Amino acid sequence: MKRIVAIAMLLVSANLAHAEEAPAAYNQCKACHKVEKGKHGIGPSLANMVGATAGTAEGFKYSDALAKTGWVWNDATLTQYITNPRAVPGSKMLFPGLKKPEDVTAVIAYLYSLTARQLTSLRWAICATQAVRGSWARAARDDCKSPDAR
Ligand code: HEC
Repeated sequence: MKRIVAIAMLLVSANLAHAEEAPAAYNQCKACHKVEKGKHGIGPSLANMVGATAGTAEGFKYSDALAKTGWVWNDATLTQYITNPRAVPGSKMLFPGLKKPEDVTAVIAYLYSLTARQLTSLRWAICATQAVRGSWARAARDDCKSPDAR
């Protein structure tokens, strides 16, 4: 059993190490977003946001429109929002949206890796690995929420 856990941890760190590099498409987000926890720019910090409810980073003033969606950030909601922020009418994110599917995938994998950096449990580590590998439906389940507050 111990050996299985050790192997799982290795796989996790290998996957995350790979995904932590910001993809080129993320440069378009940098003008407004920081990835450090609690550091907001024109947009909120994107640390630890996968699995969190939209509009809940402490210290950032969101539009009512986004805060009232009640969306939980996962593969499906992120895809909608970052390909077309107007999917949330009245959102303050003035960005036309990423158009290339491969850019969307790369940016979302990166956002998952930012959340996974605050690893506090093996369960979350496994969830994050599945996310990076593309099994997002599984990773979006409640038991895959980040254990840390934003
Ligand atoms: C021109 C500035 C700007 C750019 C560029 C931008 N954003 Fe945003 N983003 C915002 C603002 C402002 C908000 C808050 C929206 C609101 O309150 O309605 C936001 C909100 C978000 C949220 C919701 C976060 C939360 O805490 O609920 C996500 C996710 C997000 N942006 C991702 C991205 C990604 C990924 C990119 C690049 C592909 C990007 N943004 C580009 C300004 C920007």
